[in-house]
Amino acid sequence: MNDKDLLVQSIGWAAEREPVITRRFYEILFARYPQVQPLFGRNSGDAQARMLQDAILAALDHIEDGAWLTETLGALGARHVAYGVTDEMYGWVGECLIATLAEHCGDRWSNDHHAAWGRTYGALTGLALAGAARARAQ
Ligand code: HEM
Repeated sequence: MNDKDLLVQSIGWAAEREPVITRRFYEILFARYPQVQPLFGRNSGDAQARMLQDAILAALDHIEDGAWLTETLGALGARHVAYGVTDEMYGWVGECLIATLAEHCGDRWSNDHHAAWGRTYGALTGLALAGAARARAQ
C-alpha cells in the first residue's frame, strides 16, 4: 500500500470512533507537553482539533500538487508564528497525533501506518516551517 492509502485507511478506522482526533489528541498533547496548553484558546479544543484534521485531509487531497502544498502550508506556518508556535513544537504535535491515531486504530495499526504518517507529517511540517521562517525574516 502507498503512503496515501495507509493514511486514508487509518483515518477511516479512527473515524469509526468520532469525534476522531479530537479530545484524546489534546489530552495526550497537554499531558506530554503542558507548556503548549496556554497557546490554545480556552474553548477552542474540539474546533481546533477538527481544523488540524481537516487541514491534513486537505493536504492529502493535494498530495501531488506541490505548488498548492507549498503555498497553503507556508501560509499556515506563517500564521502559526503569530500563535506563539515554535519550530520544535511541530515534532511534539506530530508525535501526539500519531500516538492518538495508533490508539484509535488498535490492533489494525502497523509499522507501515506509523512510517507513512511520520513521512507525511514530516513533509507537511517542512513546508510549514519554511513559511514560518519567511514570516520571521520579514
Ligand atoms: C502541520 C501541522 C499543523 C497543522 C496542519 C495545523 C493546522 C491548524 C489550523 C488549520 C488552524 C486554524 C487556524 C489557521 O488556519 O491558521 C490551527 C490553529 C492553531 N494551531 Fe495548528 N496546525 C499544525 C501544527 C501546530 C503546532 C505544532 C502547534 C503547537 C502547539 C499548533 C498550535 C495551534 C494554535 C495555538 C492555533 C490557534 C488556536 C486558537 O486560536 O485557539 N499547531 N492549526
